[in-house]
Amino acid sequence: MRVYKSIELLVNEIDSIKRRRETIGLVPTMGYLHEGHLSLIRKARKDTDCVVVSIFVNPIQFGPGEDLKQYPRDLNRDLRLCRASGADIVFFPTSKIMYSNGFSSYVNVEGPTDRLCGASRPGHFKGVATVVAKLFNIVNPDIAYFGQKDAQQAIVIKKMVEDLNMPVKIKVQPIVREKDGLAMSSRNAYLNPCQRRQALSLYRSLKLAQELYKKGEKDPKKIIKGMRRVILKEKGAKIDYVSIVDTKKLKGLNRISEKALVAVAVKIGKTRLIDNVILN
Ligand code: PAF
Repeated sequence: MRVYKSIELLVNEIDSIKRRRETIGLVPTMGYLHEGHLSLIRKARKDTDCVVVSIFVNPIQFGPGEDLKQYPRDLNRDLRLCRASGADIVFFPTSKIMYSNGFSSYVNVEGPTDRLCGASRPGHFKGVATVVAKLFNIVNPDIAYFGQKDAQQAIVIKKMVEDLNMPVKIKVQPIVREKDGLAMSSRNAYLNPCQRRQALSLYRSLKLAQELYKKGEKDPKKIIKGMRRVILKEKGAKIDYVSIVDTKKLKGLNRISEKALVAVAVKIGKTRLIDNVILN
């Protein structure tokens, strides 16, 4: 496994991979890898000849007062996990390398970025789309892999790729959960044991949504009411949103008659967690 900090050196290697007509799979990450990331790396390993994992805590997707400084980092552990999961190349640039002096070009995907996380984290998806577009230009992947846990992110990236005719296929892989249902996230590391228990309310609320839907409930308002009740039973939980939206434009639904995304964002103490399920 090769590790690159330099864009130039990585691009040289990518050029020779392309000359050999090998396919490239890219797994963009911010590091502090967990099973969710590793499942993406393993999938890329199965699908493509050369697996590139990027590890970069992207400063421009964090708002003022968010957790950029505290974001967990452990490069040596990440490199071990990348190697064990089948990565060929790790790209680990610094902020200076990615955003050199005078950087001033951004990708703004309008529409699906206004809602859900976009509403409470203004500028977040502009930062995500910009860094992912840069990674696509640097790595030139055939396929790029994202997790369903960040459902809105995956939709935004797909829209960017479609709108800008980027020659890459996007594959979205299922959420990986802890045994008790908590969706894996690097931010789970912030939770103390009590908060870790409270965090389960997200999963419980989504299970309730699935149960109510299975029993025939099609009114999003009623489902959301029940979900909010489940979450707010936990004293430490503060709801950012509980929404039921369509899976393309992320617009609120009056009635569930098509595939719907049930998405939640909840603060447990200072930690903002997100999770979702699809109702089919
Ligand atoms: O999902 C993440 O970890 C990040 O948003 C991503 C896609 C790596 C961009 O920084």
